Amino acid sequence: MTDLPVTGGTQPQQPYLIEPLGKQHDRATFTCGSEPLDRYFKTQVTQDIRRRVAKCMVAVDLATSAVAGFYTLSAMSLALAEIPDTLTKGLPRYPIVPVVLMGRLAVATKAQGHKLGTALLAHAVEYVATGNIGAFAVVIDAKDDAAQRFYERHGFVAIMGHPRRLILPLESALQAIKAGGR
Ligand SMILES: CC(C)(COP(=O)(O)OP(=O)(O)OC[C@H]1O[C@@H](n2cnc3c(N)ncnc32)[C@H](O)[C@@H]1OP(=O)(O)O)[C@@H](O)C(=O)NCCC(=O)NCCS
Repeated sequence: MTDLPVTGGTQPQQPYLIEPLGKQHDRATFTCGSEPLDRYFKTQVTQDIRRRVAKCMVAVDLATSAVAGFYTLSAMSLALAEIPDTLTKGLPRYPIVPVVLMGRLAVATKAQGHKLGTALLAHAVEYVATGNIGAFAVVIDAKDDAAQRFYERHGFVAIMGHPRRLILPLESALQAIKAGGR
C-alpha cells in the first residue's frame, strides 16, 4: 500500500505520492519550521530505520519530486489504566494494550496549511489499521500546544499522566475517514 490514496475528505490539494522513505528521496533540503524535526529527518531517521526502531513514510510532491512531509511509526504498548475509560469500553481487560506510536509528523513549510498533515495522519491510520499486526490505537506526543490542538481536531484524546501524549483509537478513526473526514 505504498501509494495508498487517502480516502474521505482528507485528500491533500496537490498530487502527492505517499511511500516508504528510500535512498531516492532528498532529505537534506527538508524544512518544516521545527529545527529538531528537520534535524531528525536529515541525520537520524535512516539510522532508526536500519535499527528497526521506526518506519518512515514520506509524501513526495509529484510535480517536483521534493519531500513535502513525513511521518514515523514504531511499536509501543500502554497500560490499560492509562487510557481514558471512555475509549476502552468492550476491550478485553489485558493489562497492556498494543498501540502504534507516530513518533514524528512534519509537513514542509511551503506545503503547510493545504491539508497534507491531515492526509498523512489519515494515511497512517489506514496503514496501521490494515497492517497484519494488532494495534488498538495510534499514539502521538504533541510537541507544543498548537500541535496538540491540531491532533485534538482530528479526534485524538489526552492520556492521563502524560502531558501532551494523545491517543486515537483506530476503529473510530477509520469510521471518521470513511464518513468523509473531519
Ligand atoms: C502540524 C503540521 C504537521 C500540520 O500540517 P499541515 O499540512 O500544515 O496541516 P493541515 O493543512 O492538514 O491542517 C491545517 C490545520 O492545522 C493547523 N496548523 C497549521 N500549522 C500548524 C502547526 N505548526 N501546529 C499546529 N497546527 C497547525 C492550522 O491552523 C489548520 O487549522 P484549520 O484546519 O482549522 O484551518 C505542520 O504544520 C507541521 O509540520 N508543523 C511543524 C512541525 C510540527 O509542529 N509537527 C507536529 C509535531 S508533534
